[in-house]
Amino acid sequence: MVIDATAVLGLGSSISPGEDAVGSEPIYPVLETSVFSSGRSRMLAPLLRWAGSKRKLVPLLLANCPARFNRYVEPFAGSACLFFALGPSNAILGDFNAQLMDFYRFVAKSPDRLAQELATYPLSEDFYYVLRSQSAEGMSQLEVAARFLYLNRFCFNGVYRTNRKGQFNVPYGSKTGQLPSKERLHAASTKLRKTKLISGDFESTLSTVQRGDFVYLDPPYSASRNRGEYGYGAFAAEDVKRISEAAERMDRAGATFLISYKSEPEVSKYFANWHQRRVRVTRHVSGFAGSRGEVEELLISNQKFNEG
Ligand SMILES: C[S@@+](CC[C@H](N)C(=O)[O-])C[C@H]1O[C@@H](n2cnc3c(N)ncnc32)[C@H](O)[C@@H]1O
Repeated sequence: MVIDATAVLGLGSSISPGEDAVGSEPIYPVLETSVFSSGRSRMLAPLLRWAGSKRKLVPLLLANCPARFNRYVEPFAGSACLFFALGPSNAILGDFNAQLMDFYRFVAKSPDRLAQELATYPLSEDFYYVLRSQSAEGMSQLEVAARFLYLNRFCFNGVYRTNRKGQFNVPYGSKTGQLPSKERLHAASTKLRKTKLISGDFESTLSTVQRGDFVYLDPPYSASRNRGEYGYGAFAAEDVKRISEAAERMDRAGATFLISYKSEPEVSKYFANWHQRRVRVTRHVSGFAGSRGEVEELLISNQKFNEG
């Protein structure tokens, strides 16, 4: 069954006929908005642009978060849209991308210094390529964090891709938005300071899961040919099995989980023990190669879905 996000959220009147309900802007404003509303008041938008971001699914995900939980755990954080929208007081974020997690650590610690540093960077394509060509080795933590944010905000489609030497190699993008304001960095810092940040494989983050936790898992779509979008060796088809085993463990531990993944019969079978819903969403299918398209996403949970 394909779920209708407008029904779940009671937002039908803001959607034009034929518009993609889940992905339409009236439900969820653009990234440049620092604080927005969507049924809840004062939710924070993510700091980063991120390929595979669940920005457009956030209202539906929020509608299917448990009413109560002790800790929020997100082992495939990326831009952590749901984390910033929920603003949990006790949370753990993890990601395989160590540069990303170091960036969040720096934002937590020194948002003002980061804002000051960024204010000295020219906003131009030339400067983007100068910064990209510089190695992060030998830079201060401040310079590394500023470089990470600048390249993320002005790169093509928010893709994080490196070559085999680990050098960021994404071209400048044409539709990129702007750098976050000092206020926005501060607001993100306040959330991140209360959060444990783990760099590594999702299993190391999941090893901390305990009774009463709410775990949101948003793994990358596995591809037969890894182009380095999430780091070489980051995620493969076999990992779906690892996630299905982790789902059993989380349930036994007494945690609630919510997984979003590409909707395929094979994937559905792996998670046959759990509640499933299919939703349509517009996204960049695979960084550069797939370009934009409407895909069907599968939501999987050990808790019944909110039928609206
Ligand atoms: C689809 S993105 C998550 C997007 C996120 N939900 C958002 O809204 O931006 C998947 C993330 O998983 C990370 N990743 C890939 N393989 C991983 C692994 N084995 N363990 C942990 N994280 C991994 C990638 O670095 C990427 O940030």
